[in-house]
Amino acid sequence: MADELGLSIEAFTKQSKLFEFLDDAGRQRMMDIAQRKVLAKDDVVVREGEVGDSFYVILKGAVSVTVDDFGTPKQVATLGRGSFFGEIAVLTQQPRSATVTALSELELLRFDKGPVEKILADYPRVREIMARLGLRRSEDTLEKMMASGFEDEKTPNPTGEG
Ligand code: CMP
Repeated sequence: MADELGLSIEAFTKQSKLFEFLDDAGRQRMMDIAQRKVLAKDDVVVREGEVGDSFYVILKGAVSVTVDDFGTPKQVATLGRGSFFGEIAVLTQQPRSATVTALSELELLRFDKGPVEKILADYPRVREIMARLGLRRSEDTLEKMMASGFEDEKTPNPTGEG
């Protein structure tokens, strides 16, 4: 599979900070399960609410992360080369917390949940880093939703106080 990707282990390691936390054996295992995916601008990679069975590392291009705000997509982040996404559904079994859309032509590495879980079980520190980032991102999304909700609030305080 390494040949399919066309990347040496050194080149693979440089694609994302995440891989630097693994050792050579772990990087090789990740490389063996990685699938390269090319998408066009505006393609949706993952959709909010769907079951998530993989996570992704961005090799080229950028994505927009949006959440549904009463029918309107609200952008909570943009991610570029070297970033990963899709870790929340993979690590927590929750549905996708956001929709991720290509902002440009996009090249990704896709890692399927089953094999990646086996690798991460042997690298608990890497799993922990991903889980913590996922948690921080969930909090960030919630904060941004709350902020816009309060800004847009036109009705009186529902508690009747103040
Ligand atoms: P997941 O919920 O599996 O699918 C959507 C992904 O978008 C999510 O994992 C994160 O990787 C990413 N994501 C969600 N919220 C944010 C955020 N606030 N900032 C950056 N990335 C996010």
